[in-house]
Amino acid sequence: MRNWIIPIVVLGVALPAWADEHLPPVTSETVKTECGACHMAFQPQFLPRESWRKIMRRLPRHFGSKVDLTEAARREIEAYHLANAADVSDSPEGRRFHESIGTGAAPLRITHVPRWAAEHRGAVEPAVWADWRTGGKANCRACHRSADAGWYEGN
Ligand code: HEC
Ligand code: HEC
Repeated sequence: MRNWIIPIVVLGVALPAWADEHLPPVTSETVKTECGACHMAFQPQFLPRESWRKIMRRLPRHFGSKVDLTEAARREIEAYHLANAADVSDSPEGRRFHESIGTGAAPLRITHVPRWAAEHRGAVEPAVWADWRTGGKANCRACHRSADAGWYEGN
């Protein structure tokens, strides 16, 4: 009987830890299509509401690109991001991203969030970011193959 107890205890500890790191995958088809056209559709849980408001206002000048949306799509995408943002989401990882930003700040990039920087410091050789095969810091899927499903730990 004793050998039964050990695996149960290990699982009991490990499962909530995995769930804690997992981000909910994007469920809006409009977001997946429109915001996933040039890069992955980033989970809204990575940035607070004020960041998404700014990003949505600036879509005609979006990081050197122009994002064209119908008014209906724009509204739907903004509502989805505001409802699931780091500062309102119940995702533990989202909350940690929000806490690292602090209230008031509204970065335009996930890669500028202190927690993002902390999680990658020492984990990635600087030369790897510059390598054309990586495609830059925002190309999460180059290293996180299950990023769309919300899994970022491991590869
Ligand atoms: C026409 C192409 C295009 C579309 C469509 C697009 N983006 Fe982007 N986006 C970019 C480019 C280019 C960058 C800069 C990538 C880089 O620096 O490597 C970027 C960067 C971002 C970043 C910052 C990533 C980081 O942390 O560095 C966010 C957040 C973002 N986009 C959100 C969105 C949202 C939300 C939508 C849908 C409304 C969207 N994007 C649609 C081209 C696009
Ligand atoms: C050049 C490869 C690379 C790119 C690109 C990259 N990451 Fe990472 N990321 C890593 C490594 C390595 C780690 C640390 C080891 C691990 O946990 O997988 C990490 C860790 C993380 C973690 C912490 C996972 C945990 O264990 O809690 C998150 C969240 C994360 N990355 C999100 C992102 C997001 C979002 C993007 C895109 C905006 C991104 N990463 C782009 C390599 C990368």
